[in-house]
Amino acid sequence: MSLVELDAVDAGYGENQVLHDLTLSIQPGRVNCIIGPNGSGKSTTLKAVCGLVDVWDGTIRVRGDDVTNAHPRDVVERGVVMLPQGGNVFPEMTVKENLRIGAFLVDDRDVLERRYREVYEMFPVLEEKKRQRAGELSGGQQMMVAFGRALMPDPEILLLDEPSAGLAPDLVDDVFDQVERLKERGRDMIIIEQNVRRVLDVAEYVYVLDQGERMYEGETEALRDEDEIMRMYIGERHG
Ligand SMILES: Nc1ncnc2c1ncn2[C@@H]1O[C@H](COP(=O)(O)OP(=O)(O)OP(=O)(O)O)[C@@H](O)[C@H]1O
Ligand SMILES: [Mg+2]
Repeated sequence: MSLVELDAVDAGYGENQVLHDLTLSIQPGRVNCIIGPNGSGKSTTLKAVCGLVDVWDGTIRVRGDDVTNAHPRDVVERGVVMLPQGGNVFPEMTVKENLRIGAFLVDDRDVLERRYREVYEMFPVLEEKKRQRAGELSGGQQMMVAFGRALMPDPEILLLDEPSAGLAPDLVDDVFDQVERLKERGRDMIIIEQNVRRVLDVAEYVYVLDQGERMYEGETEALRDEDEIMRMYIGERHG
């Protein structure tokens, strides 16, 4: 059974249709990535899964259960959690309060403490700064707060929307190291990335979107032989 499935989904904002008859079937046990030009509907795809954009037609399922236009909370309860594009921390709240929000479904104190420890272990700087307001942190540290917040519910599948965007090169390395660690521990992920070369090194399965349509899907290894797709969407600059 698919972990997450979009079946012939149309979705958009107001009058503006973004996703056109989009079908994706995310299998468990692998790291997936979605690549494609700016505005091609990558973020909208993940937002549709999370109940954050109107689905006009078609069906979205998580482990077989219909979650089309579900309340975002219901999707989190099913183990699907997103790191939104740009991070979006709550600047007035402390780092720890931001993490707490991610674990809004957790009411067992021991479980909560364990989750904090796991996040602090991944991002030690967050423990150092846990009492500071998130808005006072650097952009890179704010992205770590957002990443940590997404991990707090211990999601079965983590949706990462451009986790490395706007970060200095050493922080980009850190993000991909964390993604590798999560992969080694068996976490399922869907990653959207502009940093195509880096994400293709970690992802096992790739989807290419263009204008809200699926142009390609397949094993990452097979993509390297798709000259046309490589030329159109990956290009030499990603080397
Ligand atoms: N909140 C919104 N309201 C109206 N239109 C939106 C909204 N968010 C996105 N769009 C439009 O939907 C289309 C797809 O946007 P989306 O953010 O899904 O693309 P993307 O592939 O994630 O692009 P990027 O690589 O720039 O992040 C774009 O034309 C965009 O302008
Ligand atoms: Mg986007």
